[in-house]
Amino acid sequence: MSLLDAAREVREVAYAPYSNFKVGAAVRGASGAIYRGCNVENVAYPEGTCAEAGAIAAMIAAGETRLTEVAVIADSPSPVPPCGGCRQKLAEFGDGKTPVLLATTAGATEATTIGGLLPGRFDAGHMEGAAP
Ligand code: THU
Repeated sequence: MSLLDAAREVREVAYAPYSNFKVGAAVRGASGAIYRGCNVENVAYPEGTCAEAGAIAAMIAAGETRLTEVAVIADSPSPVPPCGGCRQKLAEFGDGKTPVLLATTAGATEATTIGGLLPGRFDAGHMEGAAP
C-alpha cells in the first residue's frame, strides 16, 4: 500500500465531530514501515491533536525515530498543509529534504519537503555550545 493510501484509509476513522474536518497522515520510518495517524478532537478544543502528531507518536511507540517520507490528506479545496506546530514536529524526525506529499480526497496532490514547509527552522545546531 502506498503512503498516501495509508493516510487516506486512516482519515476515515478520524474523530472530528467539532470541525467535521477529517485529516489522515502517514509517515514512513527508516525501516520502511508505515505509521498512521488521524486527528482526534476534544470538546475542550485545544486538547485536540493533529493527524501528523498521531502518526509520529505511532512511529515512536514502535521504536523508530527517523522518518523518510510523509503524506497528509483531507477533504480540502487544495492539498492540505500541515499546521505550524506539525511542521516543527515533522522536522524533529526528518530532514530538510524529506519528501512530503499533500493531498485532497478529490485527487489533487502537491509535493514538497520538510525544508520547503519550514524554512529557517530551529534545530539542534542552534543550541551548539549551550551547557548540557
Ligand atoms: N488538522 C490536522 O490534523 N492536521 C493539520 O495539519 C491541520 C489541521 C486538524 C486539527 C483539527 O482537528 C482539524 O484539522 C481542524 O483544524
